[in-house]
Amino acid sequence: MEKKRAQWSSKIGFILAAAGSAVGLGNIWKFPGRAYEGGGGAFLVIYLIIVVALGIPLMLTELSIGRASQANVVTSFEKLGHKGFSWAGWIGVVGAFIITSYYSHVGGWVLRYVFGYITDAPMIYADSTGYFLNMLGALPSGETFFPWIAIVFAAVFMLINAIVIIRGVESGLERFNKIGMPALFILLLILLVRSVTLPGSEDGLAFLLSFRWENVTFQTVLAALGQAFYSLSIGMAIMVTYGSYLSKNENIEKNSVIICLMDTLVAIIAGFIIVPAVFATLGPEQIGKGGSFAFISLARVFEQMPGGQFFGVLFYLLLLFAALTSCTSLIESIVAFLTERFSWKRTGATIAVCLVMFLLGCLYTCSQAAFPIKGIWFDAANGISFPAFGDAMEFLTDRLMIPDCALGICIFVGWVWKPERIIAEVEQSGVRFKFAKLYRVIVRYVAPLAILAILAISFVTGTTLS
Ligand code: PFF
Repeated sequence: MEKKRAQWSSKIGFILAAAGSAVGLGNIWKFPGRAYEGGGGAFLVIYLIIVVALGIPLMLTELSIGRASQANVVTSFEKLGHKGFSWAGWIGVVGAFIITSYYSHVGGWVLRYVFGYITDAPMIYADSTGYFLNMLGALPSGETFFPWIAIVFAAVFMLINAIVIIRGVESGLERFNKIGMPALFILLLILLVRSVTLPGSEDGLAFLLSFRWENVTFQTVLAALGQAFYSLSIGMAIMVTYGSYLSKNENIEKNSVIICLMDTLVAIIAGFIIVPAVFATLGPEQIGKGGSFAFISLARVFEQMPGGQFFGVLFYLLLLFAALTSCTSLIESIVAFLTERFSWKRTGATIAVCLVMFLLGCLYTCSQAAFPIKGIWFDAANGISFPAFGDAMEFLTDRLMIPDCALGICIFVGWVWKPERIIAEVEQSGVRFKFAKLYRVIVRYVAPLAILAILAISFVTGTTLS
């Protein structure tokens, strides 16, 4: 007998869970760096246009496929009668698996820093690079050792995820996001007030509100595109799974707008926290986007800020909530696939998946500083290269899998299954799809071309665009 499919118990529960998936590390530490590099206000405008023109339609597409098929990412294509497109779903599942493996470890580092700022703030301030490297198994002398601190915290982080997923869609995911997301917004607002009231923050604010169009290049636009996909959790088919738990009465068009705007609002607020704070303390040239920025450079910011230790704890708590709510969405889409496709029990599937992902993530963490574990990569600019294993994992998902999965979905909907079906699915709730005509053009032409451009540029130049 088929079990009744899980459903979100409330509209707000669904919106918060989907926004929780979207709002993640990408918003808080990648976005501000991108906004800075892309020329401040000009980048914000371009990003907003991309979210509205592509982000919302693609979010709506994934949610509709999920609700129409009532199935996980892979099975959804089969249920809609196009088994040939299951590859897009497979990329989604495998991509989610790889992203979670490293994302959960970075989540573990964040957890370590929550405790670090509570107990060792003076140590972090005294040598922020040493503190970070010590967590990853390296000493300033160059000696290396097993990065057990990072690994233990990653294990705890993974355990929290597993508990949420095992509890199920309604009492796990939905309830967790109903607490986590409002907490995240409160932390965000507190940090925003702190940052913009720092003496010297005006320059950072002025930078974000000025439009340096001369800094904008084709690359900037593509970087904004890649960032938008990653940030909105589009292209990993997570939203297909989330849409499959959505009731037919829900207005998908409106919900997609709300989720995308919430995600974008968080990214912009994060920009208005980080950029002015770094301008006021370190100077603008220190703004970066990578992990070392969030863990090393920011220590100087908190050190110089009145009440810095307290705000440091709040900042890493904010990152922690953001990482947890995104990571659970990735795991959910894999677990949904395993339970539906192979009839695995939810608990067993969650434990197995989390364990394997955690182990794969150990290679990621070990490759950062402790051991020279390499991956392999190819692009036209550099030929075959052997980057750190962790970097290769990110290249694989950001440069290849996310765009491919998104492209597969666009081709499927635009040319094979036809946009009319999505429009009909959206209209199931009894509302008219207001932008149906525009949607058809976007899903058939604009989105596939934009995605092809991301794929081509990252292959030709060897740069990551998310
Ligand atoms: N959207 C999340 C972030 O911005 O950090 C990360 C993410 C989650 C990416 C889920 C992709 C995904 F499928």
